[in-house]
Amino acid sequence: MRRLSWLTEIARPEIRALKAYEHAVWEPGLIRLHANELPWRACGDSSIAGLNRYPEPHPHQLTAALASFYGVGPDMLLAGRGSDELIDLLIRSYCRGGQDAVIICPPTFGMYAVAARIQGARVLQVPLQRDAGYRFDPVVLGEQLDPGVKLVFLCSPNNPTGNCLDRPAILGLAHALEGRALVVVDEAYVEFAEAPSLTAAITDHPGLVVLRTLSKAHGLAGARCGALLGHAAVVALLRKVIQPYAVTQLTIEAVFRSLEPAALQQSRERVATLRAERARVAAALAESDGVLKVWPSDANFLLVEFQDAAAALQRTHAAGLLVRDLRAAAGLARALRISIGSCEQNDRLLSSLRSPQ
Ligand SMILES: Cc1ncc(COP(=O)(O)O)c(C=O)c1O
Repeated sequence: MRRLSWLTEIARPEIRALKAYEHAVWEPGLIRLHANELPWRACGDSSIAGLNRYPEPHPHQLTAALASFYGVGPDMLLAGRGSDELIDLLIRSYCRGGQDAVIICPPTFGMYAVAARIQGARVLQVPLQRDAGYRFDPVVLGEQLDPGVKLVFLCSPNNPTGNCLDRPAILGLAHALEGRALVVVDEAYVEFAEAPSLTAAITDHPGLVVLRTLSKAHGLAGARCGALLGHAAVVALLRKVIQPYAVTQLTIEAVFRSLEPAALQQSRERVATLRAERARVAAALAESDGVLKVWPSDANFLLVEFQDAAAALQRTHAAGLLVRDLRAAAGLARALRISIGSCEQNDRLLSSLRSPQ
């Protein structure tokens, strides 16, 4: 039998010893005179439950609904205030400031390094291989490992390069790191990719943690809800650390609406539209003067390199469009990241780059 206690033994000792905060009892059928709330709704409050009441401290129904949607048991899912909060929670729970480390593979999503630095954890960088289409090399990564590394962050599809990382390589890494470190795969954009989620592999690779979000394909960025999927022991540890009431009542209600069959159907249709638009915009950009390279994308954005990225930025801005300037990132001195918008917005983007200077 496999020894799985390492999943929590590698966490910070204080967190392992922590007793979770005891929040007010949750019995929605009874009159609440135990949480110092106001008995009347605020003006304009159109929520179902009433915002004068605290939401459920650890939202069990929401957890169950998201777990069934993502295909795991409810003990394998933790919902948080966006995947940003879950990244922070992992680092705070597993990394001792001044001692432990995370590995990131730049260019990648900036929050892994920011959250690690806030915690005082070391950030080891194993760059993706640009010449191999921003592939990650598990062998080079293995060479960087030191005993302090507790978390390896991989983003697939990766922000900002747009490509999916190699699935066998990720699983091989999770296997190789068993007993030492968790491999966290951020799948914020997986709905826009051909490749399936790695969630089903968690059972065989207990050190694998998958992050999902409602912010992208489900159109709920403003609601702030993400989900961490992992082994029940990891989820139970993190549940001690997450703030009670992390997911607000308005968000809980919005997520339930987004999981209704009609909403899911609409989300699937929008993802299909977006993928078609991605192909159209990529092809048109590749033909545009001054564009050096449009990187293939499995996400809802394109990484584009320009002869003169400053001029491209200025032209899109003059057309009333914001695109992401990546020029300060290592190896991306000529790059902008462009989100795929509606057909009209994409047309506007293309014509802003086409119009004479
Ligand atoms: C790769 C990646 N992960 C996580 C996030 C944050 O997601 P959330 O809105 O769930 O906090 C983003 C946001 O852009 C992202 O690009």
